[in-house]
Amino acid sequence: MEFSLVNSCRLLAACPRATDSSPINPAKCIMLRLVLYKILRPTSTDAGGTVLNTISRRLPLLDPLSLSSSLLLVGDLGQTDWTMSTLGHVAAYDYDVLLFAGDLSYADYIQSRWDTFGQMMSPYANYKPWMVTEGNHEKESLPLLVESFLAYNTRWEMPYKESGSNSNLYYSFEVAGVHVLMLGSYTDFDTESEQYKWLQVDLAKVNRAKTPWLIAMLHAPWYNSNTAHQGEDESEDMMAAMETLLYQNNVDLLFAGHVHAYERNLRVYKKKLDECGIVHITIGDGGNREGLATDWKSTQPAWSAKRESSFGFGQLNVVNGTHALWSWHRNQDVEAVMADEVWMTNLNAKPECARKA
Ligand SMILES: [Fe+2]
Repeated sequence: MEFSLVNSCRLLAACPRATDSSPINPAKCIMLRLVLYKILRPTSTDAGGTVLNTISRRLPLLDPLSLSSSLLLVGDLGQTDWTMSTLGHVAAYDYDVLLFAGDLSYADYIQSRWDTFGQMMSPYANYKPWMVTEGNHEKESLPLLVESFLAYNTRWEMPYKESGSNSNLYYSFEVAGVHVLMLGSYTDFDTESEQYKWLQVDLAKVNRAKTPWLIAMLHAPWYNSNTAHQGEDESEDMMAAMETLLYQNNVDLLFAGHVHAYERNLRVYKKKLDECGIVHITIGDGGNREGLATDWKSTQPAWSAKRESSFGFGQLNVVNGTHALWSWHRNQDVEAVMADEVWMTNLNAKPECARKA
């Protein structure tokens, strides 16, 4: 948790010291304690440090409906000149968390590519949280020899245990006002699967008063009008198993990769427009060596609002508990160009979309 000096002073002023006549209301304040260590033995497994100072401050709890956050979204990055173009544009943005919809390094069994990918990402991922889910290029399956996702799970371990998941391939986390479901397209997802059972439990724990926004990310898109990757089990079967569960829980947006293009859809459920349905966005245009998916179905479905075969990335600016600004940035030009922009209204703020579960 970081506060600027100005904000810290303002926040502290809102929570003065308790007095006999004016006690602190614990419902409105939290205690923040900073412990400064001087590290003496950095290679030791224990803390190994000397406490230099301890600072305790009481801070006010913020109203979740007033929280704002900026999420950047990428997919199918790989490691090409286009990847570097995307990363260069991403670095120019001040964001809180980057969400990565899978197909990271395109190592495809060549382990040195994981090294070069890590070196390529370090200048960016070292300074901001990069939260990832797996794509098909992470699987690297060698039956009876090497378990699937071994390199991915080893190199990109996510905080799955903290969300009650028993697999690095699906988990959830929260960032100011947003509950994020990172789902796995390439592990079991049927209604009897461990992932589905975990998802049911996780959704039941979501507190929309605390995290008004509920978004999901996975690799293989459920709604996509490109001709690439049509009819795959990871799209159709997973959608058949999970769409109603996510719909009933008022998931606001679902992001996917896999198809190397950009497509934003209108709110949809069971392939029909539904004002209480999920906005599906494909963002698999990060810049990998396979190139763009340029062939679209000749008839654009009613639920498809915008589609383009260009490299780029997306940004979700959560302004408050009811409104967020989605934008897609095309990076094939010298400067990043905002090529799509639309305001989103939180489903939970719509009385007509009251929780359906
Ligand atoms: Fe993929």
